[in-house]
Amino acid sequence: MRMYDIIDCKKRGLALTKEEIDFVVQGYTKGDIPDYQVSALLMAIYFQGMSLEETAYLTMAMASSGDQIDLSPIQGIKVDKHSTGGVGDKTTIVLAPLVAAAGAKVAKMSGRGLGHTGGTIDKLESFEGFKVELTEEQFFDNVNAHHIAVVGQSGDLAPADKKLYALRDVTATVDNMSLIASSIMSKKIASGADAICLDVKCGTGAFMKKLEDAKALGKAMVDIGNHVGRQTMAVVSDMNQPLGYAVGNALEVMEAINTLRGKGPEDLTLLTITLASHMLMLAGLAKDVEAAKNQIQDLLSTGAAIDKLKEWIKLQGGDERAVDDFSYLPQAPYHRDFCLNQIGYVEAINAEAVGKAALVLGAGRETKESSIDLAVGIVIHKKIGDKINVDEPVATIYYNNEQKYNLATSILEKAYKISDQQIEKPDLIYDIIH
Ligand code: URA
Repeated sequence: MRMYDIIDCKKRGLALTKEEIDFVVQGYTKGDIPDYQVSALLMAIYFQGMSLEETAYLTMAMASSGDQIDLSPIQGIKVDKHSTGGVGDKTTIVLAPLVAAAGAKVAKMSGRGLGHTGGTIDKLESFEGFKVELTEEQFFDNVNAHHIAVVGQSGDLAPADKKLYALRDVTATVDNMSLIASSIMSKKIASGADAICLDVKCGTGAFMKKLEDAKALGKAMVDIGNHVGRQTMAVVSDMNQPLGYAVGNALEVMEAINTLRGKGPEDLTLLTITLASHMLMLAGLAKDVEAAKNQIQDLLSTGAAIDKLKEWIKLQGGDERAVDDFSYLPQAPYHRDFCLNQIGYVEAINAEAVGKAALVLGAGRETKESSIDLAVGIVIHKKIGDKINVDEPVATIYYNNEQKYNLATSILEKAYKISDQQIEKPDLIYDIIH
């Protein structure tokens, strides 16, 4: 088999075989095929596209290029959830104990964050003592006995994707639906779940800015998952403004706890109920989505979900007193209200800018090596459609340094667009894809 012929075949719009795709992925991962030939192939794929079959072969070739997690010591259907990423997205911290309390098995690996705030693993470290590394035995025991364990990513998952993604980044071939979908799904499949619930974000604060692109990405990932035998569904949800109100690690944990008490923001509550009920369906634990929703709502109102959160935090060595008393969570030394001195209705909030403001406060990482301050961040008070008056704060900023505060406010000033007309609140859930 020659790389030249494979490039030529795709250049002419022909489909690649499983053997050819395996040859490329294995050869590139080992370093036997040079960057320039894989770059040429990526560009040919970019223009000629790939069929579902080719995309599934590529996904599986990347998924099997490194470690693959074997979750078979856990009984029952293991359902994983993945979000394509957004500002203020703390859904995993709400969802994990919620679906565990409903009887599903949550065996999750999560990442640290790069960008606006930390990832789920960083946020969980807001609980003093919380261990994000467990032995394999502890991990399986916790899930079998208590239905829940969330740990940091370990091992070398889908190294082929890491190498290919880096090459796509410098060859202008990132924004191709088949390549994005196979990249995300290869990591999910290597993580070992039987079923996958995807939250595809759409809007100014998301990777996919346009609804048609977010839907196409959701459909591409669902098709791949189902094609390779992992039951997969996707929710397409709004990211034109931060999810909930809090942006920043410990602040988001507080909001997640309030949500598990049934006192969370409307959008975060609706999204978690939607995702949780579909996860119960995927796990085979509900007869229909309506029944699943009722079950989830009961767990929120009876306190069963919050009890499961406490059990989980304690199991992983964290200080569960923080669930009832937020003074046990990291606290920023200063906070100040932020006003726009305008009257009107919020027309738009640039979620990316709010994320950037939280990042400069120290809530997120500029580079993989940066350290983060779990306490700092922003709590917005006004969302799209809300009315504001002069001197009414649109946000509160939690900070540790005056200079960073000034930088964050200069970014936040430009994040809000105010109209003198009344504005309708946007939808949250755009589509459900099976
Ligand atoms: N996220 C990924 O993991 N891969 C892509 O290709 C794009 C976003």
